Amino acid sequence: MPPSATSNRESDNQSSPPAAKSKYVFRCIGCASTATSAGENFRCAQCGNLLEITDPSWTTNSLNADALKTLWRERRSSNSPLDLSGVWRFRELLPTPDSGQQVVTLREGNTPVYELTRASRDTGVTHLFAKHQGMNPTGSFKDTGMTVAATFARQAGYRWVACASTGNTSASMAAYAARGGMRSLVLVPEGKISWSKLSQALDYGALTCQLRTDFDGCLRLLQELVRSAPVYQLNSINPFRLEGQKTLAFELLEQLDWQVPDHIIVPGGNLGNSSAIGKALLEMLEINLISRLPKLSVIQAKGANALVRTLREANGEHLVSVQPETRATAIRIGNPASWEKAVKVIRATEGTCEQVSEIEIAQAKAEIGAEGIGCEPASAVTLAGLKKLLQSGFVKKNETVVLILTGNLLKDPDYTMEFHRGDLFADAAEDRAHAALQPLCHPPIVLDANLDAVIETLEKAEKSEPNA
Ligand code: F0G
Repeated sequence: MPPSATSNRESDNQSSPPAAKSKYVFRCIGCASTATSAGENFRCAQCGNLLEITDPSWTTNSLNADALKTLWRERRSSNSPLDLSGVWRFRELLPTPDSGQQVVTLREGNTPVYELTRASRDTGVTHLFAKHQGMNPTGSFKDTGMTVAATFARQAGYRWVACASTGNTSASMAAYAARGGMRSLVLVPEGKISWSKLSQALDYGALTCQLRTDFDGCLRLLQELVRSAPVYQLNSINPFRLEGQKTLAFELLEQLDWQVPDHIIVPGGNLGNSSAIGKALLEMLEINLISRLPKLSVIQAKGANALVRTLREANGEHLVSVQPETRATAIRIGNPASWEKAVKVIRATEGTCEQVSEIEIAQAKAEIGAEGIGCEPASAVTLAGLKKLLQSGFVKKNETVVLILTGNLLKDPDYTMEFHRGDLFADAAEDRAHAALQPLCHPPIVLDANLDAVIETLEKAEKSEPNA
């Protein structure tokens, strides 16, 4: 293995206390066998299933729930780099590196929970919140996992890290690799990721390859690559990523003063995030941080609905792959790697899985934008999904619901522009449905540069129906 990567100056100089040493092990989600190390594919040596991380110290014997709540809250007034991170602040429930100096952090996490007043009025759900993971340093939830996985990549001395991505993972990985002094290799499907995400990877210095395939093809190639080259894979198959992504749930519950919501609704693509949130909920229940579980539900785009079909057609017993197609490119995935982990946590929390159409996604995204919040299309499936779950009676209007917004509005400006200009959909039926969303569309108006023209436009707008 190449020698240790150059160090991150900021974290080397940090005066924070070293993270408590954890004794984590890798456990197979299929046969439950454990190992102290994992192969390059993070799969079980016995049965080939995916691994997860667990630590025997994450029990009520070693951890006191009230003491943890106090400690985590106190750390919010600390200026040490580890405490400033909304991930490492929860380090008692994370695998930790040998030294706090190893940590690669961009002060991720600490994302806001917003009340959705407009959506609450429209849906009738009185307690409706959005936790906005798009407010992370690179604009998506990936950063919370990347800080942990990049830290362990650096500790292991890797020079190269790599991922297959629909865009956000690559942006995040490239940033954390740069901060940690490592080089990064990005494999993305050509023409199927937003320019905004691609440009982030370029700016952070990644070696970026646009492959003539889809995300699933990129991931397959990455699996081959890690077997033949000394690169460390940072896809969500890497269980360190999911450990970091658990902190979304810890932070959310802390923000809700440990009042458990009835429902958490999350978008599903490769299904790492739903798995991570579910794992966190089960661990919190285990150590009495919470006394009951919220229902965790996963929403997919109809055109990329592998999990929906896996549950409906195969009762969750084998994966039903699909040929994915959706304008929500972040979740344009047909063969989700963590499907079994997701099935387990949906069942354990008594959640469900639902699918939404392209027009439903577009409408929900515009509605979240009209709240002054905004998100990328993949995140908007949560609001669209909530509407369906209300119709089916799975969610009741008097229940507390938290939507997880996974990516920032600025991640996909092309989509937003096309929506407002009215040319998002080529299909005639969708185009007609889009016409019904006219009140949500605010196309830019080109005018001569004179006062009368602007005043006339203002007066016309004042008379027109406000969409608020
Ligand atoms: N939302 C956004 C904005 C995403 O970027 C992704 C996944 C998801 C939701 C789905 O999360 O895969 O954990 O189920 N993006 C990955 C990527 C695949 O490469 O950026 P998941």
